[in-house]
Amino acid sequence: MHDIVIVGGGPGGYAAALYAHNFGLSVALVDDERPGGTCLIRGCIPAKQWLHIAEVYSTVSHAAEFGVVTSQPQIDWSAALARKNQTVEGLVRGLSGLLKNRGVDVVEGFGKLAGPGKVEVSSNEGSTMLEGRSVILATGSYARTIPGYEIDGTRIVTSDHALDWPEQPQRVGIIGAGVIGCEFASFLTDLGSEVHVFEMLDQIIPDSDPETAKALQRQLQRRGAKFHIGVGVGPAEVGPSGVGIPVGDEMISVDVALVSVGRGPNTDGVGLESTKAEMDNGFVKVDQDTMLTAEPGLYAVGDIVAGTPQLAHVGFAEGIAAVTHIATGETQPVNYDAIPRVTYTHPEVAEVGITQAQAAERGLEVETTKHAFNGVARAIIQGHNQGHVKVIAVKDGPIVGASVIGPQAGEMIHELMYSVGWEALPSEAAAFIHAHPSLSEAIGETLMSAAGKSLH
Ligand code: NAI
Repeated sequence: MHDIVIVGGGPGGYAAALYAHNFGLSVALVDDERPGGTCLIRGCIPAKQWLHIAEVYSTVSHAAEFGVVTSQPQIDWSAALARKNQTVEGLVRGLSGLLKNRGVDVVEGFGKLAGPGKVEVSSNEGSTMLEGRSVILATGSYARTIPGYEIDGTRIVTSDHALDWPEQPQRVGIIGAGVIGCEFASFLTDLGSEVHVFEMLDQIIPDSDPETAKALQRQLQRRGAKFHIGVGVGPAEVGPSGVGIPVGDEMISVDVALVSVGRGPNTDGVGLESTKAEMDNGFVKVDQDTMLTAEPGLYAVGDIVAGTPQLAHVGFAEGIAAVTHIATGETQPVNYDAIPRVTYTHPEVAEVGITQAQAAERGLEVETTKHAFNGVARAIIQGHNQGHVKVIAVKDGPIVGASVIGPQAGEMIHELMYSVGWEALPSEAAAFIHAHPSLSEAIGETLMSAAGKSLH
């Protein structure tokens, strides 16, 4: 008998397992592979390593602009892949060590709910029954596809395969210009592949600020990516030497089609039908204060939760909220309004809070203030001074959202996270002085303008 049995060892599950030590709770963590989940093994971490490899390549390629003379760099794809694997392996081993140090029982196998507080774990070695006073379901998500694009792992792939390509594909068709599609488009373009991106809606990264999304699209286009926006693709024609992607009257020929049209919840076969948990299109409904499902003692966190963003850090926060409720009976709800959302393209796009469109839906009268990076000294020094900061504030009220595109946007967004989370007025946030020269000055300048008195 454990205090908590957790099914799924991704960010939602492993964060819950690690956090439980704060309360002296005993934990079993079930996963049919090593803990780490999509994020660590075949998602965020390997993708960010590839993006960084592309950044190193671009930096060296443009070194002469800074008076640093090198020969033209070349990509050693297998060395780059080895670097990615080394990073993932190091982090997976580190996580396993941390779980062990915290006394978490890691149980390898497929976990299935088998009655109140019970989880049946099946593996090659047979099956065992675990019992917990509470159970947290954190089984994560899988890459969806669309009709006509049957995933074969070679010609039609998802990010699961594309992070492990044994050699560089020369021509790639990316279906879906969401976060995954844009991140792949960014690093593949920078590494010299021909990239076509197909998006059915009229904007890339559809949930983001339209002006910011357009700015990203323009920058990727300038570097060579080809965008087909607001189009439907016909069924793929897979041949021995490539894939044809029909769009209107045209047929775009590529070596491989990467499908990135969203992720579905891993909720089939985990025994939810035997519980009172309510579902919404395969996702699990929870009380967002506690992460409890309608089944007593059964919690759900991470990508399977209905209506919350599928982000690793949301999984962490939901795992913490569930464990806090289990341990103390008190609530520590996630503040979903202040979650940073970062697309790690070059340049990065980072947002927090609500967009202008969402403000309008909520009936809020807002004012938007924008400041460009082009005059920001540190951005000029680095040769990356394209982009902008946008701050959205309620008229005569607090900051409710922000959208940044530019160098290090994924790091800088956190200061705006505090502004949104603490409901700061522009004048309150603008009262602090930013270091000069720094990229963050772009935010400082925007806040000053939002407070009614600009500087540069
Ligand atoms: P997504 O939901 O972000 O984007 C999917 C895109 O595909 C949308 O733009 C959608 O309009 C488009 N689409 C859907 N059907 C289509 C069709 N038939 N033809 C053309 N386009 C079509 O999903 P994505 O990019 O697969 O990512 C999955 C999840 O993983 C997201 O929730 C994302 O938040 C998360 N993720 C987060 C990352 C980050 O935080 N940096 C990185 C990668 C993934």
